[in-house]
Amino acid sequence: MRFFDHAIFQNISDHHPEPSVLGLSGSPRKNGNSDLLLKEVLKGAKQQGATSEGIYLRDVQFQPCIGCEKCRKDHICTGHKDGMSLLYPDIIASKGMVLVSPTHNYNITAWMKAFIDRLYCFYNFNPKRPSGWSSQLGNQGRKVVIVAVCEQDNKKDMGFTLDAMRLPMEALGYDIVGELPVFHIFDKAKVKESPKILAQASELGAELARSIS
Ligand SMILES: Cc1cc2nc3c(=O)[nH]c(=O)nc-3n(C[C@H](O)[C@H](O)[C@H](O)COP(=O)(O)O)c2cc1C
Repeated sequence: MRFFDHAIFQNISDHHPEPSVLGLSGSPRKNGNSDLLLKEVLKGAKQQGATSEGIYLRDVQFQPCIGCEKCRKDHICTGHKDGMSLLYPDIIASKGMVLVSPTHNYNITAWMKAFIDRLYCFYNFNPKRPSGWSSQLGNQGRKVVIVAVCEQDNKKDMGFTLDAMRLPMEALGYDIVGELPVFHIFDKAKVKESPKILAQASELGAELARSIS
């Protein structure tokens, strides 16, 4: 376990991330569609030689951002000491990331939203309001793959799910390697029956691994 006095926290902006992939599933459903899609993306990354780890956010005991702004001074979240504190070192260390969320009410799940909000501590804000910003994770060649899965069969009913992951990750300095919107999947683990979609997920993982090697 790495604590906040570990070297990795000392100057995040100068960090050279490793060619490894950190994957996050935002579904509350264990072994549901998001988990299976995440596993496929990570499988594709592994086949290209990247080390990878999958995290199921429902298993992480963490709180949403409380807007205390302590991170402006501390440059990492010190407002909470919880499961996210344990995830920050892996986020900083990994050049690749995968975000997978089911659509819940046209948007990402509460777990994925809380995770993304807790990345707020990586921003450097100018003192002037409204302030410009830079990211401590920027200009480090970081890449992300984004996957969304929903019941309905059109973009309108997937709503903001992809945007809600893409826009913040771009703002944090990640390049989008690829996005996979998966439609018409409702039942738990139903995506297993769609080999074409699983192959697309795996190929995205392979592309991610190649892009960070
Ligand atoms: C609370 C909730 C809200 C949902 N909202 C939507 C929605 O807005 N649009 C949609 O197409 N599907 C919606 N769904 C269906 C899920 O996106 C779909 O079942 C998905 O395959 C679940 O993925 P999972 O197994 O990874 O949890 C919703 C499901 C739940 C439980």
